[in-house]
Amino acid sequence: MKVMQALKSFTLLRVLTVVTVVLIWKVTASVVIEYRNYWPPNFESDFLRGREAYFWGPYRWVFYVHLISGPPTLILGTILVSERFRRWAPAWHRRLGRVQGILILLFVAPSGLWMAYYAATGAIAAAGLGSLAIATAVCVALGWRSAVKRQFVSHRLWMWRTFLLLCSAVVIRMIGGLATVTHFDALWLYPVSTWVSWITPLVVYETMRILKLPVGRVSAWG
Ligand code: HEM
Repeated sequence: MKVMQALKSFTLLRVLTVVTVVLIWKVTASVVIEYRNYWPPNFESDFLRGREAYFWGPYRWVFYVHLISGPPTLILGTILVSERFRRWAPAWHRRLGRVQGILILLFVAPSGLWMAYYAATGAIAAAGLGSLAIATAVCVALGWRSAVKRQFVSHRLWMWRTFLLLCSAVVIRMIGGLATVTHFDALWLYPVSTWVSWITPLVVYETMRILKLPVGRVSAWG
């Protein structure tokens, strides 16, 4: 009976994990499809509306760096947290991990920090996205350091945090999508989302960890 129950919850966990990964890939693909509005810049598009005044300065270069480096980190994240992949191809885990570290530390986080200053809706959103940039850079740096020191328990912890922080890009778009379909257009939604989108996944993760629930230990995927 106990074996059956364990098998059932393992299967449920496995299905949930696969659904989450597919969702991340799907949202990433839909973000990239929107790039048709950015090359060349369409100032009538949702994101670029009202940004023409500063777009042609350094913002443009930082924006394109962010657009090129962001999606690969999300896809790499789903691969790198997979236990199965690491066991199957440890050398590739290390190689892709280095690429991920470089992409985040040199491109995604600095460009995110720069762009945060110009965030739509103002200071609260700017602070939310700026803090996200700093938190992501710190987590990946600590994760990298613990890998070099061969402290793999701590490595896994920091890298899960990094991945969840990257997933805020998915969460914030899901919040926006939900608001659109429910015709909810409160002005406070975006600034609040810039905080909720990364703090919530982190709090859920830390709570599950404290309660010793099987987060990040699903051998079916991660
Ligand atoms: C450290 C993590 C990240 C930070 C701090 C960050 C920060 C930002 C900021 C500040 C903006 C401009 C928001 C505004 O002006 O209101 C932005 C836009 C954008 N970010 Fe990120 N970002 C991060 C991760 C990612 C990831 C993983 C992706 C991959 C999908 C991504 C894709 C984009 C895109 C495509 C835009 C342009 C707007 C849009 O089309 O939605 N970002 N990001």
